Amino acid sequence: MKRIIKVHEDLQSAQIAAGELIVRNANEAIERRNRFLFALSGGDTPTGLYQLFAEPPYINRIDWSKVHFFWGDERIVPFNDAQSNYGQAWKLLLQHLPVRHESLHPIRTDLPPELAEKEYAAVLKQYSEPPLEWPRFDLVLLGLGEDGHTASIFPGSEINISTPTGISSANYQDRPLQRISLTAPVFNSAREIVFLVSGKSKAATLARVLYGGYHPLNLPAQRIQPKDGKVIWLVDKPAASELPERSDM
Ligand code: 6PG
Repeated sequence: MKRIIKVHEDLQSAQIAAGELIVRNANEAIERRNRFLFALSGGDTPTGLYQLFAEPPYINRIDWSKVHFFWGDERIVPFNDAQSNYGQAWKLLLQHLPVRHESLHPIRTDLPPELAEKEYAAVLKQYSEPPLEWPRFDLVLLGLGEDGHTASIFPGSEINISTPTGISSANYQDRPLQRISLTAPVFNSAREIVFLVSGKSKAATLARVLYGGYHPLNLPAQRIQPKDGKVIWLVDKPAASELPERSDM
């Protein structure tokens, strides 16, 4: 696995760096494989990034007809709930793009969770790269929780999991309790993963995730290590404030 850490002045410049990276990655994937498989994250950190792509110049820099949108995780609330990850992406980004309905692959919340989980696994299989039962995402966007979670893989969750999707339940801030998430093996099959991390409240956790001992049970973000892929951490200065000197490389 190749790991790159880039420290940016503020969240906005980290989002712009993420935007550039998405454009490059999407155009390369479309040229090579005629499609771009993109998994989005929830949370507050990427909202400005989604808005960036909803208007020129970024909206014109990708052939959206070749993009498939997936989600790394979803909170189990209706799509029109303000806490829905799909709803957030729809409002800020997707409704503004020339994308086909068939290219949107949200995690269903109108089904009982056990069914929704199976249904999502079946969708993943349709885009799989055998022998895998799920796709090799061209790009996965992830966030980091103050407790070390990523997507909806929370501290204390099972480690040796081999299914592509899982149901979790977590009390984190005032957010919905029940979630469905992709699991580490799916993330770890990705070609590229971008973590976007912002704010002083995440500084200590970020330092532990990146430079502390390996404690995947407490720090699930440490499980994200794509075997044949790259992980790029785009962090703002406050989030980077507890990283060792010269970690910007
Ligand atoms: C979610 C996420 C989650 C998120 C982190 C960071 O749906 O809640 O996908 O993993 O990325 O909790 O959230 P913030 O960006 O709001 O800090």
